[in-house]
Amino acid sequence: MSETILLIDDDQSLRRVTEYNLAAKGFDVITAASGVQGLEVFKNYSPDLVVTDVKLGDMNGLDILEKIKKDAPEIPVIIMTAFGSIEMAVQAMHKGAFNFITKPFDRDTLILSCKKALELKDLRYKTKLMTNEINRLTGTEGIISASSVMKELLDTASRAANSDATVLITGESGTGKEVLARLIHQNSPRHNGPMVTVNCAAIPSGLIESELFGHMKGSFTGAIKDRKGHFQTASGGTLFLDEIGEMATDTQVKLLRAIQEKEVQPVGSERAKKVDIRIVAATNLDLQKKIAKGEFREDLYYRLSVIPLFIPPLRERTDDIPALIKHFLKKFDAPRDVGFSGPAQEVLKAYQWPGNIREMQNIVERCIILRKKSVIEPEDLQLLDQKTSASPLAPVIPDEGVALGDIEKSYILKALEKTSQNRSKAARLLKIPRHVLLYRLEKYGL
Ligand SMILES: Nc1ncnc2c1ncn2[C@@H]1O[C@H](COP(=O)(O)OP(=O)(O)OP(=O)(O)O)[C@@H](O)[C@H]1O
Ligand SMILES: [Mg+2]
Repeated sequence: MSETILLIDDDQSLRRVTEYNLAAKGFDVITAASGVQGLEVFKNYSPDLVVTDVKLGDMNGLDILEKIKKDAPEIPVIIMTAFGSIEMAVQAMHKGAFNFITKPFDRDTLILSCKKALELKDLRYKTKLMTNEINRLTGTEGIISASSVMKELLDTASRAANSDATVLITGESGTGKEVLARLIHQNSPRHNGPMVTVNCAAIPSGLIESELFGHMKGSFTGAIKDRKGHFQTASGGTLFLDEIGEMATDTQVKLLRAIQEKEVQPVGSERAKKVDIRIVAATNLDLQKKIAKGEFREDLYYRLSVIPLFIPPLRERTDDIPALIKHFLKKFDAPRDVGFSGPAQEVLKAYQWPGNIREMQNIVERCIILRKKSVIEPEDLQLLDQKTSASPLAPVIPDEGVALGDIEKSYILKALEKTSQNRSKAARLLKIPRHVLLYRLEKYGL
C-alpha cells in the first residue's frame, strides 16, 4: 500500500508541480489550497505525512504544525519556507517539525526528505508495537501501588523474588495475582529464563499429568511422540501454577512429590528427571476452606505457601484508586484533558469493586471511549447496581425463599473472622450481648 502525503500550499503552480513529482515516485498525494482546507482533509483522510507551506493565505503553516502535533503527534510534518527565513525554520523545528526545506527546492531534496520522514514514522510505529508487546509479555507495564498495604506487599514480593522459595499468591479475582507473579519472575535471578504459566483450571483432569510432567511416545493413545511437560519447559525459570485451587486431589499428590523431589516422571517413563524451577502458585479460592472440606491437601498447601502473599481487594485499598485512574487513562491513550471529576472519583472510591482492578480498567476504558465531554461525571460511570450486593439495608429475597438462620449464621461467622475469632468484639460488632452470641454459636453448632 502506498503512503499518503497531504500537501498544503496556496500557490497553485507550485502545488501542481510538487504533486506531480511526488506522485511519480509512487506516493498518494492529496492537496489543499488553504490552511483550513488542509486541516479538514487531514481529519478526514489521516495521511501518513504532511508537507505544508508556511505562508498560506488564511493561516500560518506553524499553526497547522502545532495542531497536527497536538492531535496526531506521530505524523511527521515537513515545512516549506521561503529562502532566508532561518528564524522561521528554527521555530518550526522547535514545534516538532520533522524537517524544513527552503524554496526553491529541487525535486530530489523534497523526495528524500519525505522518504526519511515516512521511515521514521514507520520505525516509531513498530517500536511502539514492540514496546507494548514486551510490556505485555514481561508484565512490567507498571504495577500501581500508592496505598501503604500495596507498597508493603510489593516490597515483600521483591525480597521474595531473590530466593527460590515457593510463593503462594491469594486474592479475589482481578486483584493482580498474575501481574505480581510476573513481577516476581522479572525481579528474580531467573529473569532470563522462561516464565511458564499453567492454568490448572483449564486443563482436563485426564491430561494434566502429561501437560505438567510430559509423556513418552506410545504411553497412551494419541501420544505419537515424546513431549516435554511444563515443568521441563520452565527449567531455568519460573513455573506459574495459576488457579491452583481447582486442581484435582489426585494430581495434587503428584504435584507435591514433584515439588519435594525437584524431579518429574513423564507419563510412561521409568525414570524421573531433575528439574530446576521456581514455583509461584495463585488462587482466588479460600484454600483453608477447601482443606477443611477435604478438597485440597494440607501438605501441599504448606509446601506452596512458604511465602504467602495476599493481595487485598480494591475496596480495601482505596488510596490506590486515583493512581490507578491516572495509570489507565494513560494506558488507553486518553487525551490529556480527559479525566474524572471530583464527585466521580468519590463514587469510584465508595464502590465495592467485585471485579477489582480488572473491572476498574474496563470501566475507565469504557468511559474514555463513550465520553461526551472531557470531564467524566458520576452518571457516566454506569457501575454495577450496588443494591444487588449483600447489604443488610437492601435485602434480596429470591423466589424460592431464604433461610433466616443461614443469614444470621453467615453474619456471625463474618464478625468472628473480622475480629480474629474474638467473641466479645464480634458480639459488639453485631450489637448483641456476648451471652447471646455464645448461645447462637451453640445453636448453630459453630
Ligand atoms: N496494581 C496494579 N496496577 C496496574 N494494573 C493492575 C494492577 N493489578 C492488576 N492490574 C491489571 O488488572 C488486570 C487483572 O490482573 P490479573 O490478571 O493479574 O488479576 P488476577 O488476580 O490474576 O485475576 P483472576 O483471579 O481473575 O485471574 C490486568 O489487566 C492487570 O494488568
Ligand atoms: Mg489470574
